[in-house]
Amino acid sequence: MKKAKIVALGKWLPERILTNVELEKMVETSDEWITTRTGIKERRIASSDITASDMAYLASKDIARNEPIDLIIVSTSTSDTIFPGTACLLSERLGLSNCACFDLSAACTGFSYALECGRRFIEAGGSKCAIIVASELTSKFINWKDRSTCVLFGDGAGAVLLKGADKGGIIGSYFNTNGKLGDILKIPAGGSKMPASLETVEKNLHTIQMDGPEVFKYAVLAMSEAIERVLSNHSLSVNDISLFIPHQANLRIINLLSKRLKISDEKMFVNLNRYGNMMSASSVVALDEAVKSGRIKEGDLILMVAVGGGFTYGATLIEW
Ligand code: UT7
Repeated sequence: MKKAKIVALGKWLPERILTNVELEKMVETSDEWITTRTGIKERRIASSDITASDMAYLASKDIARNEPIDLIIVSTSTSDTIFPGTACLLSERLGLSNCACFDLSAACTGFSYALECGRRFIEAGGSKCAIIVASELTSKFINWKDRSTCVLFGDGAGAVLLKGADKGGIIGSYFNTNGKLGDILKIPAGGSKMPASLETVEKNLHTIQMDGPEVFKYAVLAMSEAIERVLSNHSLSVNDISLFIPHQANLRIINLLSKRLKISDEKMFVNLNRYGNMMSASSVVALDEAVKSGRIKEGDLILMVAVGGGFTYGATLIEW
């Protein structure tokens, strides 16, 4: 059976940079608070006319060119519309036909879940050439008056091209969910439970609501569990992994994870200082930058790990 292998990567980030210093003028915060509590210095914000499918297109157009793509999975929690799915809109933009398309919603863990779905399509022979995309336009779902959330998030998109290969590829994964924690990170309104109304808009219920300290605690535990399970399933140790790509939400979360699992700083990829938390796009943008900056070489073992609303979490082991 062929393994699913990432053979190309792409990303797109809005040009507009929103710095911590600018945020000081918008809410009662400081560069010092944001930097020491999160590690974030700046994030990208898309212009108001951009949609999640635009970003997905810009991230994937170069890797999709001239490829016989038969599957598109888009991870997004900020889709253009409830339906049609962003993946369907993307197939049209890319000029593709004969292509299965669907969106996947698993908050910040969404890219890992989408990659796993793509892997299983390929391994089962249901797809020969897939693009897996994460596109998150978080800025349109932020309450810009809430300092506890607006300093954390940013916009961005990333994409990978997945094909069957005899050598290398995705070799293992672990996924889990704790549905009891659904309430600590959510967008309450806009779904069937609380459809849009004057009241939901007035109360800002279409924006991200989070119990930060609870999310923080659980994020460290969940990512530790996911890493440990993948490593033990493959009789590997931390030393066998060349690079860890953790979800980019907070540098303190990443540092605690390193400390718990005795992972050296050089083996933890971090770019959240430049982008903030781009939800599911964080993992794939980080992977793209790690590959293109030479941090990942052929034959390396890479472990991606993510956690997010749901509470979803998971890890993916890749032989590059
Ligand atoms: O993708 C997964 C989703 N997200 C995450 O993983 C985020 C997880 N959580 C976190 O990263 C952290 O909990 C935060 C960065 C959100 C908050 O950091 P914290 O150290 O847990 O702070 P806190 O929420 O306990 O708040 C400490 C203080 C509070 O003031 P008082 O009550 O001590 O007077 C907050 O009101 O900091 C205050 N605060 C701020 N001060 C300045 C909260 N946000 C800000 C802010 N600027 N932006």
